[in-house]
Amino acid sequence: MTFARIAGTGSYLPERVLTNDELAATVDTTDDWIRERTGIRERRIAAPGETTCDLAERASRRALEAAGLEGADLDLIVVGTTTPDRVYPSTACRLQARLGAEGGPAFDVQAVCTGFIYALGVAEKFVRTGSAARALVVGADVHSRLLDWSDRGTCILFGDGAGAIVLESAPEPGVMTTHLHADGTGERLLYVEGSVEDGYDNPIQSAARTRMQGNEVFKRAVRALGGIVDQTLEANGLARGDIDWLVPHQANYRIIEATARRLRMPMERVVVTVDRHGNTSAGSVPLALDEAVRDGRIDRGDLLLLEAFGGGFTWGSALVRF
Ligand code: UT7
Repeated sequence: MTFARIAGTGSYLPERVLTNDELAATVDTTDDWIRERTGIRERRIAAPGETTCDLAERASRRALEAAGLEGADLDLIVVGTTTPDRVYPSTACRLQARLGAEGGPAFDVQAVCTGFIYALGVAEKFVRTGSAARALVVGADVHSRLLDWSDRGTCILFGDGAGAIVLESAPEPGVMTTHLHADGTGERLLYVEGSVEDGYDNPIQSAARTRMQGNEVFKRAVRALGGIVDQTLEANGLARGDIDWLVPHQANYRIIEATARRLRMPMERVVVTVDRHGNTSAGSVPLALDEAVRDGRIDRGDLLLLEAFGGGFTWGSALVRF
């Protein structure tokens, strides 16, 4: 039997730090409000001209280095992103060219904040079925370019960043199970304005902006993540407390806490980056994973639960023996 194991992780954050106080100078908010309601202190913002593929490339090179591999060793690239550099070619194809990995399939997966979990769920199946032996899985977004900087309900939440992992085939897991879900009926609670239905000429105009009913999204996120945590435990015959590390999507500290409570996990076993990264959309889970691997918290053999919830709505999880 073949499984997919994580051979290396990497991540990248743009240099520019944007603090809550800076935002409070431009919209009606305060550092206290943002910290109390979201846990966010600051976030990173891509430089003018810095693209999703730029962030993805840096994260990917670090993941390849950690795995002891080169671009040419890859036979699959899957990028989770909602902010591709172009409508086409895909960010994955652009990344493939930069890494010198031509030949194998390369494609983007669009599942907003669940993008990395979806990409992992897809790539893992390529590896398990023998269609690929070494896959690069990336989550990367420059969500700052989709924000309405006059909307205090959204502009305080997001940041830019990318994370990546290299999967390789192995005789033992690795990725144990992945669980992916979507419910398209909540579109108007979280979406990017810009459709012809909204009065625009095409859906990719630079005026496109994130719109969100935050408190309703919050409730749905808590509910969906609670459900997927239960589903993941049940599918693997695990009890609450069997997980070594929760590596959650970083949208709001209060959502993370609710999921940790459901798992009966103390917050010391939860990787939290939302305070410094904000919500980096598809970048958030692999960024958190890479941080905890590099600082030595996550060790080989640890059991990890990765989960995310995002626009679509989409949500998903992966149980991984690291
Ligand atoms: O990645 C997946 C997608 N996103 C999420 O998961 C985000 C989920 N939602 C959230 O994180 C939270 O709902 C928010 C942080 C967006 C908002 O927090 P909340 O506790 O749900 O606040 P609320 O939307 O219920 O608003 C409460 C009050 C409102 O004022 P009134 O009507 O009570 O006078 C808002 O206008 O807070 C106000 N408010 C703010 N005040 C200061 C909303 N945003 C801000 C702000 N600063 N930035």
